[in-house]
Amino acid sequence: MIQWKPRADHPDDQPLQRRGYDLGAICMTPEQPSTLTPKQIKRMWQQHKPVFLPALVADVLLSQKAPIAARESLIMAILEGHYPSDNFIADSKAHAFSLTGSSEEAHDAQAIEKIFFTDEGSESEHDNLWCKASWLSFYDDDASLRFRFSFGMEGFEDVTADPARQQSAANLCTALFPESAVIEKNQAINTLMASILGGSMCYVERIVYFNAPHGGAQMHHDVERGHAGVVYAQLTGKTFWLALSKPLLVAELCHYNHAHPHLAEQLFSDHCLQIKFNQLLADQNALDNYLDQDDHELLEVLMDQHPDFIRHMLESGHGFVLQAGDVLLLPQQDLAHCVWHTVFCLGDEMGEALSFAVRRDIP
Ligand SMILES: [Fe+2]
Repeated sequence: MIQWKPRADHPDDQPLQRRGYDLGAICMTPEQPSTLTPKQIKRMWQQHKPVFLPALVADVLLSQKAPIAARESLIMAILEGHYPSDNFIADSKAHAFSLTGSSEEAHDAQAIEKIFFTDEGSESEHDNLWCKASWLSFYDDDASLRFRFSFGMEGFEDVTADPARQQSAANLCTALFPESAVIEKNQAINTLMASILGGSMCYVERIVYFNAPHGGAQMHHDVERGHAGVVYAQLTGKTFWLALSKPLLVAELCHYNHAHPHLAEQLFSDHCLQIKFNQLLADQNALDNYLDQDDHELLEVLMDQHPDFIRHMLESGHGFVLQAGDVLLLPQQDLAHCVWHTVFCLGDEMGEALSFAVRRDIP
């Protein structure tokens, strides 16, 4: 059970602070292991609901202690200004991928480094596979970063058109982050996901996250052509999530605005923005369409920066705390049928997590 408080006033309370916004605090009692049956989980996925599976990978984590512990030196080196590629060059004898070059990605202000690999010694012989390290925000006190794995021209290439190369990029993630086994080699998750997707499946478009204090992610979805959803596993540290299906998010936003007649005046000093906000929140179809656009600036001030909305969402049953060993499934069928989610780092520890997209295997 998780409860929201306006501020942390007990040693066990966890402040919700992200990128300069104080959004209250939470206190919680320990989660019991999930009692959901595979059938219930499948139904929740099909209904585009988030599925929280506490402690699902807790046992498997023990077998990955060494690579997880090694991350501390990788992250420390990056925070001290070293390039991630220095670390990966040192590791390159341990796997079949060759590092062929790197780029500082000057056009991308959040990028730390993009590192290119080839597996041309293998049967598949794929090149231009890459691992891109990026900061998660521009906020000075937020050291959160991620490593994303893909291939080809970022933002232009249709990665789903070349499943074999997409799989090689996924294998590169396993080579550089062997703790990927926590999801990839996990019989419980594999059986569950194969049942949900109706056949053999694979984990692609992988991201390894390191969420730091004051960091996390604003409310968003993960819909992308060619995958069905995301499996997220917390390996170290803790995160707090609000996660819910898109239609439910639309309903919650409208309901909250309706219940707070002076909300627009509270959120915006600009009269034009107040009118725009009220018009948007009074029309569920318009709101639904607005969420499909890339930019949600008008809603960010409510969804990501308004403590009482966080309280409302938590009290409406959309909150989850993920600790080491916990898993969250996020179905992402399409823009109309997906789970929206927002993430906060909890506590003083930078935590590692795996976020792997899942799709049916293409022979
Ligand atoms: Fe996400």
